[in-house]
Amino acid sequence: MKMAAAGFVAILAICLALAPSFSYAYDDAPLQDFCVAVPDASAAVFVNGKICKNPKQVTSDDFVGTGFNIPVDTNNSLGSAFKLVDVNVVPGLNTLGLSLLRVDFAPGGVIPPHTHPRATEAVVVIEGTIYAGFVTSNPADNTKNRLYAKILKPGDIFVFPIGLVHFLRNVGKTKAMGIVAFNSQNPGTITIANAVFGTEPLISPEVLTKSFQLDKKVIESLQSKF
Ligand SMILES: *[C@@H]1O[C@H](CO)[C@@H](O)[C@H](O)[C@H]1NC(C)=O
Repeated sequence: MKMAAAGFVAILAICLALAPSFSYAYDDAPLQDFCVAVPDASAAVFVNGKICKNPKQVTSDDFVGTGFNIPVDTNNSLGSAFKLVDVNVVPGLNTLGLSLLRVDFAPGGVIPPHTHPRATEAVVVIEGTIYAGFVTSNPADNTKNRLYAKILKPGDIFVFPIGLVHFLRNVGKTKAMGIVAFNSQNPGTITIANAVFGTEPLISPEVLTKSFQLDKKVIESLQSKF
């Protein structure tokens, strides 16, 4: 009996120790030094990432990205633009749980509310003044979703926890720029306005009028914009 109880405690301890590895379903440990992605769209394994290039054929270039010194053109309706370096750009990122981007803002430029389903994000402000924030998921007690936001100066870093809706805006009078890191080789992006008002085919306006408590005309106007 005593032995059985000890055995049960041991199994419980092992299960508890292993539990975190069951709950992290993204970007597993690489299990080898690297796994350079085969540069062939049809070679994608639709389970978890891309297959590995034969290590004998891997070159230094597989680990190189370029162009982060070049501003991205922000002449668009949002006044913002970014250059993403993920596994599709630098194949050496495959299985390593990392990607980066450079984001540029014209004065007043915005990165609209969006989420990354597979990554936590950290932004480092290099130039300008950026207002950044994220919103918690719905609280269990029916209180309002909480906004955490801050005005950031060069050298400041802000973290957006995985999956949460977040945004950035250049609140300075000059252009702004930041460098972003994600703990996924392929963080994914869901821009809220596009996911709600810009789908193909469109979500029925009846769903959206009631959901947003808006007139059908307003919904149709929003649907025409995204
Ligand atoms: C911005 O884009 C618009 C429309 O594409 C164009 O007419 C305008 O010349 C551009 N402005 C600059 C500064 O590039």
